[in-house]
Amino acid sequence: MSQKNRRSFLQQMGLAGAAMIAGKSVLAADVPAIHHPLHRLMPMPDDQPIRMGLIGAGGMGTEDMKSALQHANVTITAVCDLYKGRIDAAKQRWGQQLFATNDYKELLKRSDVDAVIIGTPDHWHQPISIAALEAGKHVYCEKPMLHKVSEGWALVNAWKKSGKVYQVGSQGVSSLGNEKAKELLAAGAIGELNYAEGFWARMSPEGAWQYKIPADGNAQTVAWDKYEINKKHAFDPLRFFRWRNYLDYGTGMSGDLFVHLFSSLHFITNSMGPSKIAAMGGLRYWKDGRDVPDVLLGMFDYPATQAHPGFDLSLRCNFVDGTSGTTYLRLNGSKGSMDVEWDKVTVRLNADAGTNDPFLKAKAAEQGMAKEERKKMLPPRETVYKAEDGYKGAHYDHFGNFFRAIRTGGTVAEDPVFGFRACAPALLCNDSYFEKKYVLWDPENMKVLS
Ligand SMILES: NC(=O)c1ccc[n+]([C@@H]2O[C@H](COP(=O)([O-])OP(=O)(O)OC[C@H]3O[C@@H](n4cnc5c(N)ncnc54)[C@H](O)[C@@H]3O)[C@@H](O)[C@H]2O)c1
Repeated sequence: MSQKNRRSFLQQMGLAGAAMIAGKSVLAADVPAIHHPLHRLMPMPDDQPIRMGLIGAGGMGTEDMKSALQHANVTITAVCDLYKGRIDAAKQRWGQQLFATNDYKELLKRSDVDAVIIGTPDHWHQPISIAALEAGKHVYCEKPMLHKVSEGWALVNAWKKSGKVYQVGSQGVSSLGNEKAKELLAAGAIGELNYAEGFWARMSPEGAWQYKIPADGNAQTVAWDKYEINKKHAFDPLRFFRWRNYLDYGTGMSGDLFVHLFSSLHFITNSMGPSKIAAMGGLRYWKDGRDVPDVLLGMFDYPATQAHPGFDLSLRCNFVDGTSGTTYLRLNGSKGSMDVEWDKVTVRLNADAGTNDPFLKAKAAEQGMAKEERKKMLPPRETVYKAEDGYKGAHYDHFGNFFRAIRTGGTVAEDPVFGFRACAPALLCNDSYFEKKYVLWDPENMKVLS
């Protein structure tokens, strides 16, 4: 980047005032330790009414619809769920006039539904997405977009044919924090990326997916005949209300949680994904009949591409972790590191190595570097970018991007191609873990190689 271009890039980033220190570019090493507000100016057209249907009105489907309805000129007209308790709760929240059904095909036939939110368990994401696109609806589908990698191309093709807007629900991708991290990485704030890591830690029954079973959750209130795609089991409330514990419906820790970190990482780095995937773990503590591990480690090799240098990624998820509640995504570069949150980015510059280490001291002495020198002025080591007070958050922004694309005929970042590339490495962790092998993936052509 030329000096002039770098300067105008910094101006766009709101860094211009601090950009030049004694004639040196801030991008080299001198990111100043001040708190920069994160903000953006994006007009939101709200002239066109959008009528929404909700398919899967559980925990996240309800939160999604609440976020959607915060936007102007958006209404809900229909709801679909297999459990009567969820239908009753939706009607109580949004009005008795809602069209209600336990058959998603009935909801998709309605002309008063322009767009749907799919908040079902993972095994229904792809079939309902395709049916919705074929019925001419715009789709907001929860992550992971797929239950199996083999489902990916059929959905990508259905989306391309439909001409509709389709967005996957890893909402972090629309956050101020992810946008700022993307700008900072491109501007060289941490140097050349070489490694990234992410971590989810939990230590509670709810966090480990042992949800409360409703007292009235039984074969009369649940349409079990519409729940299993493979129709293998008799009604089982655990398999219905704690679906994440079973691979017939869920996708384990990697499909549930790693996928968020892949989405943010790919957005920030412009990466299409890793080419090698390896996972290890075990069921260490929550031995309640689940068929998925409760500790999972994943390792991923991202080869160099035009978009980024080669780097490694390590992801961890632990449901038996005393540091409960910790989640992070960190990018490490040759000059420093960046912790990325949805409303905050913390950039840290590398410290001089180990002055208290006797071995390094001896080595430095050998090289004549131990002589007392005049102390230097050091640039600030840490810079924090923080969202302004009143920021409505990633979830609100994600729906904003979805509605903007519908109203302007535009696009979204997290479309089915992006969604496929974010969820495939997560799902392939399960293949690696269960089949005890590492998996080769072609992220550009979206194909499993072995
Ligand atoms: N983006 C996020 O931060 C985030 C957070 C939590 C969950 N999620 C995702 O949201 C989805 C739902 O998770 P949840 O925690 O809300 O689960 P949940 O069990 O609370 O809700 C799922 C709902 O889907 C209903 N359902 C099941 N099969 C259906 C079908 N065929 N048709 C209609 N309704 C059906 C169930 O009755 C239930 O009410 C999952 O894919 C999950 O990965 C995303």
